[in-house]
Formats: sequence, C-alpha cells, structure tokens
Amino acid sequence: MEQQAYSPTAELHEGKAAKLLARYETVRAQTEAICAPLHVEDFVVQPIVDVSPPKWHLAHTTWFWEAFILEKYFSEYHLFNEHFPFLFNSYYESLGERWQRTERGNLTRPTVEEVYAYRAYVNKHMERLLRTNNISDELVQLVELGLNHEQQHQELLVTDIKYILGHNPLYPAYSKQPEQVQCGVSHPMLFLEMPEGLYDIGHQGKDFCFDNELGAHKVYLHAYRIADRLVTNGEYLEFMTSGGYTDPDHWHMDGWEWLKQQPIKAPLYWHKENGRWYNYTLAGYRPVDNNEPVTHISFYEAAAYARWAGKRLLTEFEWEAACRIYGYMDSSSLLDGGMFHPQCKRESSKQLLGDAWEWTNSAYLPYPYYTQAKGALGEYNGKFMINQMILRGGSCATPESHMRLTYRNFFQPDKRWQFTGIRLGESIKND
Ligand SMILES: [Fe+2]
Repeated sequence: MEQQAYSPTAELHEGKAAKLLARYETVRAQTEAICAPLHVEDFVVQPIVDVSPPKWHLAHTTWFWEAFILEKYFSEYHLFNEHFPFLFNSYYESLGERWQRTERGNLTRPTVEEVYAYRAYVNKHMERLLRTNNISDELVQLVELGLNHEQQHQELLVTDIKYILGHNPLYPAYSKQPEQVQCGVSHPMLFLEMPEGLYDIGHQGKDFCFDNELGAHKVYLHAYRIADRLVTNGEYLEFMTSGGYTDPDHWHMDGWEWLKQQPIKAPLYWHKENGRWYNYTLAGYRPVDNNEPVTHISFYEAAAYARWAGKRLLTEFEWEAACRIYGYMDSSSLLDGGMFHPQCKRESSKQLLGDAWEWTNSAYLPYPYYTQAKGALGEYNGKFMINQMILRGGSCATPESHMRLTYRNFFQPDKRWQFTGIRLGESIKND
C-alpha cells in the first residue's frame, strides 16, 4: 500500500469536509422532520400564490442541490428525472423554463413518495461528493448557500403549513406539543436609548452570509429610543377597538387602499366568536393570549399601529445598531425550540432574536458597494431589491443556525403569512 505523506492542509480540509457533510445531513433531515406530522393530502394544496405546497418545497430544495452543485461538480451525474428542473426551478431565469408559480398546487404528480425518493437520490450523491477529499473553496461556499437556502425553505414550510391547516375549517393542529403556554405576565414596554453617532452596518468576517448583507459600511444615526420588547396582542387589540382599522389618519395611502379592497379588521388567523377573539396556532385553535407578541400582520398594519401609538417603526440600521449595543442573542422562540409560536417576553430578553420578524421602515435596497454576481447566483437576492420592506430578527420558524445579526429578510408590505410583528421606536428630539 502506498504511504501517504502527512499533509496538515489535507487534514484540515478533511475536517472541514466532514463538518460540512454532517451539517448537510442535519439540515436535510430537519426539512423532512418538519413535514413528518403531515398527512399525504396536506402536501399538495396551494391555497394562495404565496403558499407553496410542502411537496414542492421538498422537491425544490432538492433541485437546488442538483442545479447548483451536482450537475457542475459531480462528474457523470445523471438527473433523477429530466422533467424535474422544469417543475422545481423557482425563479431562476438563467436556469431555463419553469412551471408557473401559480400552478404549483396542480402538480398531483410526481407523488409525495417519488419526491422523497428524489431527495434520497440527491442526498446519496451529495454525500458521495462531500466525502471526496478535493473540495474546493468555491464548492464549500456553494454548499453553505445550499444549506442556508434549505433553511429558508424550512421557515417557509412552517408558515405555509400553518396557512394550509389554518384555512381548513376544522383547524387541525400541526403539533399538539408543546401544549398551550399561557404567559400570565405582562412587562411594561421600556425604551432603551441610543446615542447619535456613526454605526457599523453589514456583515464582516469570513462566516457565511448572503450577498445582500455584504458591503459593510457606516451609517450616521440621530439619537433614538428602541422598545425593549415586541408589541403584544393586548396592545394591538386596543388599536383595533379604538378604531385603528377605520381611521385613515393612521395609514399610508397604499395601506388604506389595500384595506379598502379586503375586509381586514384583525391579524391573520384571528376570529371573533361571541365577543371573544380566538386565533389559529400550530398547536390548534385557541383564545388570543394578550401577553404574546402580535404576529401575522402586514407592514401597513405595523406602520399604522406605530402611528396610532405615537411612535414609529425603526429603520433597519437603527435595529442593527441597537443589537450591537444591547446584544441580541437572548432569544425566546426559534424553530429549534419547537414552540412554532411567538412567546411572551422573558424577564431578561429584549426579543431582538426570534419570536416574530420585525417590520422595519427601511426599503430593501442594496448596501453601498453591493455587486450582483452574474448568472443564477446573482438572481438569489439582487433582483428582489424593489418594492419590498426589510424585516429583522428572525421568528419562531427560523432555524437558529440560520440567523445572524446582519440578516436581512424582505417581503412586500401587504404580506401577512410569515410570523411578522412590531417593535416601536422613537426619535430623541433636541431641545
Ligand atoms: Fe428557493
């Protein structure tokens, strides 16, 4: 047997590859664990365009590994099914024609079973690829992107499953566990001061981040205050009962027009029965808990609430600067906790990480120095930097290892099916 020369670089590389493989297996298994409580009928429906069928998520995340990695880096890789790239490409113009997003719920075939076989086939090849010793840095970066992409879809799976089950008149629970937790305690909202000055914004260092977090730069902020917790259901109820939804004074014009087009009078999943408010949660249908953070509201509603309360939403820069000063790692509810619902503020927590994504008053725009990559990789984020608002902080459906201080989520201002909430801020005026 030929003796191999000792190579610290090779050993380092092997260690990196083994860690990457372990993470790959963990993340892929987590996606399937999210779908484990579902029945086969739940996998196919698409009640609104924004909500993709769980089967589609399972297949699309698998296609991503095929299209971005296996076809390029696995010599003699054969597609599992030559039609799947057409069915499961989401929005990548540079990767060819695709099935329309609006028609994902009409894909009765391939079956759920075939999609799981597709996942197993791709896993087998990815694991084989990651066991080889010549993993380039470029490939490592693409695997990181694939893992983070799959984790983004884990969050979408949770919110899409909630929409599917929460719009079934039987309101089936996704998971009976954990049982309903009553908060019982309400914390007064305190405001933390932030002095005016120059603050660092954006990702620095070598860890993975999406390209929209790059372009670290400084931003000058005037003095402001940031609330030490999210707005609760009880507080939002006061807005509702004091005419929040009927007084145009609180609303942006776009928001008011949006409101006139649909009978929205409460957060998504709220229902009034015999004078009492109930909401659908992934643990089932239950009375609204006044001390929990309000969630499933649009940007329009968040902004209207802030105006009604005599405060304002923070910019994404104010949010990030405050996290750098006050710390954000004291999370209460992320996907890993298995609560599938925002939790009440704990004594020490400021709820900056987890529970509900916080709508900011910042439009989704490129940072200075942002450059959009050519081809499919450039399509991941850059082309969405129009007509969307930034959300910060993660939610009870976000995997913990997916979150970073600099993470920028974005949605159109009318979207309500994600776990979205409100944090208030205010300017400190010079006397
Ligand atoms: Fe995707």
